Amino acid sequence: MRQIKICLGSSCYSRGNNVHLEVIKKYIAENHLEAEISFSGHLCEELCSSGPILRIDEKVYKEVNLSGLYKILQEEFPIK
Ligand code: FES
Repeated sequence: MRQIKICLGSSCYSRGNNVHLEVIKKYIAENHLEAEISFSGHLCEELCSSGPILRIDEKVYKEVNLSGLYKILQEEFPIK
């Protein structure tokens, strides 16, 4: 199972992950990826200055923004 982990620490959360959280949830639901992806939040990992932080499996994505997020999702989880 693939893993998406989003930082819900206050810095990442208020700088975009509050919205990214909903976008990811919607992407998973609309593409019926619930069985393939485990999606969870985590607390601040002291990477705030490079945030918002998003992890997909072993990869750490930094300074994630909304348009970047759509690209990341499509690359990592292409719609069949
Ligand atoms: S709030 Fe995300 S790394 Fe600190």
